[in-house]
Amino acid sequence: MTHKGHGAGSPARERERWATRMGLILAMAGNAIGLGNFLRFPVQCAQNGGGVFLIPYFTALILMGIPLMWVEWAMGRYGGQFGHSTTPGMFHRLWANPIAKYLGALGIFIPFCVTVYYLYIESWTLAYSFFSMSGSYFGISEFGEMSAFLSGFQGKMSNHYFPSIAPAYFFFLVTLAVNIWILLGGVSRGIERLANIALPLIYLFGIILLIRVITLGAPDPLHPEQNAASGFAFMWRPDYSRLSDVKVWLAATGQIFFTLSLGFGAIQTYASYLSKKDDLVAGGLTTACMNEVAEVGLGGSIAIPATVAFFGLAQTAQIASGGSFDLGFFAMPMVFQRLPFGQAFGTFWFLLLFLAGITSSVGLLQPLMAFLQEELKFTRRQAAWVVGLALFFFAQPVILFLKYGFLNEMDFWIGTLGPVSLAAIEVILFMWIFGSRRAWQEIHRGAHFTVPRIFIPVVKYVTPAFLVVLLFIWFSQEGLRVLSMEGVPAENQPYIWFARFLILGILFGVVALIYLASRRGSYSPHHSTRH
Ligand code: PHE
Repeated sequence: MTHKGHGAGSPARERERWATRMGLILAMAGNAIGLGNFLRFPVQCAQNGGGVFLIPYFTALILMGIPLMWVEWAMGRYGGQFGHSTTPGMFHRLWANPIAKYLGALGIFIPFCVTVYYLYIESWTLAYSFFSMSGSYFGISEFGEMSAFLSGFQGKMSNHYFPSIAPAYFFFLVTLAVNIWILLGGVSRGIERLANIALPLIYLFGIILLIRVITLGAPDPLHPEQNAASGFAFMWRPDYSRLSDVKVWLAATGQIFFTLSLGFGAIQTYASYLSKKDDLVAGGLTTACMNEVAEVGLGGSIAIPATVAFFGLAQTAQIASGGSFDLGFFAMPMVFQRLPFGQAFGTFWFLLLFLAGITSSVGLLQPLMAFLQEELKFTRRQAAWVVGLALFFFAQPVILFLKYGFLNEMDFWIGTLGPVSLAAIEVILFMWIFGSRRAWQEIHRGAHFTVPRIFIPVVKYVTPAFLVVLLFIWFSQEGLRVLSMEGVPAENQPYIWFARFLILGILFGVVALIYLASRRGSYSPHHSTRH
């Protein structure tokens, strides 16, 4: 066997590969470790029962997260051996049915749509790195004012901090350009090199901040009861009554998907650049562990405990109920202002977020990049241009209509419903249609140790059943409410409709591209065996 892929109808191109084993692990970890670890997790945890959240969270990690991680790595590597780095081609190889490739549209559509807004949030972290470094928000001592600073920056209102949205727009363009520049470098010289530099820095900044939080003591002399310890207690004190709440279980499962990048199509694409000798059992497990250290150990132990130490429980609970952005972009800046060397710590925090963000966003974009190159025969440069322009274009409404809930609407459908749907489809294809015996073989090719046998019935029966039930409960509990725009102010509704049309439009666009690719012979019948 060689590692050359054959897109039918054109000469085989040398497939891209990860250069080193270490680089591959760091790239995969960079994909998983993102804004979700540092902003989304602490808020989810605080809102859903504190320490008790970890029970459904780790249950979901063990029963679904890690098994699905192996499934996605195995499926990705399998597809890669036929020259396919994206789910349409992978599904086509798992299931010889013309529908299969269209089901795979989700693995390009979901990550692309997520990047449209993920990139914008990533650009805020870059902007706030500069604001911290230059001290621009230092001296704003009121919560209300700090929140006005954020709203002004986001263009939700015009105020004396930011008369226009121009700065936000500028940082968005810079972030977009940097992402495209990395993608232009390709898999090993772009993505892998970035991860080699960024991942150690993420852990370094995270550890510095963690130590700073642990050594805070009681920073407010008037409130000696507020200290780092009470912050950790708030974060982890279990509220067992929440365990019977379905919402807590849904939130925990949703967080596992998001943080491990499962059900997006992104892991599969990265895994397609593995070689057949790579040990994916160990690799998948290592990546998941690195993500959990960053999530629970760093993400869960920085923002919330620090906020409690400075501002107390009641205030923190209120901030956490406002969501991830409030915590990261205005509670933390308030904390930094009261710390000696606050500008430095603020810079570390926002640079940490930026690096975590960019190693994820290139992972979200690589599926579309790879699809354009492999299935439509674009050069890398052409693909990068198309991806960059498409992002620029589709990000406009996200940027300009932020205050009408445009971003939230997209995130609800794509960031939450999307991955669970894709995961349900892929696990059925892999374990049922491709077959659990072959799936087991694929997973263990090159592996140094064997997964416990119980894995097979779990992934074959429990995971798909669980995912389908999840989709059902979730849709009936929340989906219908969101669909009917319950509680959405009338003036926002046209924008919400626009968001939905845009999402559908992108989906149709991706389906059309797959159709085009198949007309060009990318998904020809299985004439060849693996190369
Ligand atoms: N896992 C990333 C995070 O925690 C988000 C992400 C999802 C990145 C899917 C890539 C693919 O922020």
